Amino acid sequence: MLDGKRILLIISGGIAAYKSLVLIRRLRDRGVQVRCVLTKGGAQFVTPLSVSALSENKVYSELFSLTDESEMGHIRLSREADLVVVAPASADLMAKMAAGRADDLASTVLLATDKPVLLAPAMNVMMWQNPATRRNVDQLVADGIQMIGPDAGDLACGELGTGRMSEPEAILAAIEAHFATAGPLKDVRALVTSGPTHEPIDPVRYIANRSSGKQGHAIARALGDAGAAVTLVTGPTREVDPPSAKVIRVETAEEMLAACQASLPVDVAVCAAAVADWRVARPGNSKIKRNGNGAPTFELVENPDILATLSGLKRGRPTLVVGFAAETDAVIDHATAKRRTKGCDWILANDVSAETGVFGGDHNTVHLIDAHGAETWPKATKADVASRLADKIAETIAQKGLLA
Ligand code: PMT
Repeated sequence: MLDGKRILLIISGGIAAYKSLVLIRRLRDRGVQVRCVLTKGGAQFVTPLSVSALSENKVYSELFSLTDESEMGHIRLSREADLVVVAPASADLMAKMAAGRADDLASTVLLATDKPVLLAPAMNVMMWQNPATRRNVDQLVADGIQMIGPDAGDLACGELGTGRMSEPEAILAAIEAHFATAGPLKDVRALVTSGPTHEPIDPVRYIANRSSGKQGHAIARALGDAGAAVTLVTGPTREVDPPSAKVIRVETAEEMLAACQASLPVDVAVCAAAVADWRVARPGNSKIKRNGNGAPTFELVENPDILATLSGLKRGRPTLVVGFAAETDAVIDHATAKRRTKGCDWILANDVSAETGVFGGDHNTVHLIDAHGAETWPKATKADVASRLADKIAETIAQKGLLA
């Protein structure tokens, strides 16, 4: 969700400035471009060098710097961001903001920006409770400034009370929530399954398949980017967790079903996992040994069908249930029949014959099958397939509304 977003982070004076270094790191990990303004007070607590090294960008401090102004004027600095975050926001900087003052780079940028602003205040408890600060906070909230914290607890000054800057993870969540509320799926809860399942034969061996989780994870990411609250239930994969999703890791089909059921109710379910159809009836409790009598035989039993279970819910069925069909021949015919037997609304059929490279690859060609027939989407990256699916889901939910 945050990948490619631009954040201008203003670090003002306060011991909590060290936490902003962690915040920069977390934002960079998520692909955010971070530019920083360090106030004179902020520079008493963290150095321009560490801020610059972590943000991988120049740090701006001076309003009247000839070089800074010729390279990146303060007006451009204030506009070339999707969000301005002030962390820590000192009582002094908040007072300047509330009064509309502009006597240094940070306050000037805050006065000049046309972008949303999120403040993470940090100060002594008495400063926070002071009527002057209360007035300033009321004014800033009335001006549309978003606020996270401050939290209660031990303060650096040795006192106890409200004034601690929120933790970097909480600020990050507030930033994600800010971007999420902008998406077309902002009120939608989505469940996505991804990856293979591993069905044990004994403690060291298992039955698996070639799914990498790339397609399912891309779908979870695209739905999250569109603002949905996503739960991703995934079998074992090497894929990176989508930043805004709640991720539940499982091994077997039975665990995947239990995790999906525990995640209900949702509005949309997308089953992209390659769930093993069968499991070994009685897996060995210890490693099965060669005993000179030839190969062992295993009885297989059917696994529960997660897609069919979600589609068949009598109460709390998701508004939209989407399955995949992995086929190697008669792709559209087999997938059309599968949609009917499993009872889902849409099925995305893909040809997984070895020569297509779909299992584990970065591209996919899908046919979307609904009650009216099949629509073939051109070959695309799995990320593009995922964002086209997210668009289609948003369009459909806008027409149908949410039932769950
Ligand atoms: O993970 P990648 O390497 O990116 O590859 C992507 C993919 C090929 C795995 C993916 O695009 C895909 O096709 N996923 C579904 C794979 C599959 O198991 O298809 P199926 O035709 O066997 O099953 C049909 C549907 O029923 C699927 O939505 C599946 O999740 C679901 N199912 C199947 C069996 C089962 N016991 N429970 C299920 O929910």
